[in-house]
Amino acid sequence: MPPKKRRIVALTGAGISAESGLGTFRDKGGLWDEHDINEVATPEAWNKNPKLVLEFYDKRRELCVKAKPNEAHFALAKLEKHFDVHVITQNIDDLHERAGSKNILHLHGEILKARSVNDPEKLYHIGGKRIKLGDLAPDGHQMRPHVVWFGEAVPKMYEAEDIVREADIFIVIGTSLNVYPAANLIYASAANIPKYIVDLNELTNVKYKNLTHLKGKASERLPELVDTLIKDLNNTK
Ligand code: APR
Repeated sequence: MPPKKRRIVALTGAGISAESGLGTFRDKGGLWDEHDINEVATPEAWNKNPKLVLEFYDKRRELCVKAKPNEAHFALAKLEKHFDVHVITQNIDDLHERAGSKNILHLHGEILKARSVNDPEKLYHIGGKRIKLGDLAPDGHQMRPHVVWFGEAVPKMYEAEDIVREADIFIVIGTSLNVYPAANLIYASAANIPKYIVDLNELTNVKYKNLTHLKGKASERLPELVDTLIKDLNNTK
């Protein structure tokens, strides 16, 4: 029986996809500078003006299909040869999948999938297709993006906490940790395990033990960290 691989959990946010050309939310000029969350990303927005909401996500879907994974996504995929890697992402793009990561949990949904407004369980892969008002699911109800809006439940949060609880190493990449409950996930990890935060900025809103900040671009700092973790692992063999 081969020895159990050490578990690395990576919590990723918009910053890991920034260098793939997909906008972040809270950086200067980010998506929430250009759009009002209350107009495009809440159930109330959907009830008030579903066409505007559909157009907002159509645009993001179009950009997602055009984008390519960057060195940060590939670095996480490379880790899987050596560790039991779980990627928990707040991102709705499929760049982790396209980079080759296998264990991916999307906390906030997936932009290339859609569902009936009447059934949150049944998902339809639509790729880059637009969703128009009048596009009905087989159950006869309007299709909507499979995305968690502000004010909606995060159904996979408990599953995510169970994964994080067993982490031997926890890495946070490209997230401002401003949105809950995702931002609390780091505290579900054991206090005594090594934790790394890869971000352009030093995150001041995280206070926890064994935390190392790796300031810089994810496409540069994450591959460095991955090589170090693999080297350290080989040195312990
Ligand atoms: N490399 C590393 N970090 C980066 C890079 C980069 N190239 N570019 C930006 N960042 C960092 C920023 O410094 C910031 O800390 O990525 C983070 C992006 O933060 P946000 O824009 O708040 O994105 P995110 O944390 O993913 O937002 C969480 O909020 O709007 C909701 O559902 C949406 O999933 C999203 C959630």
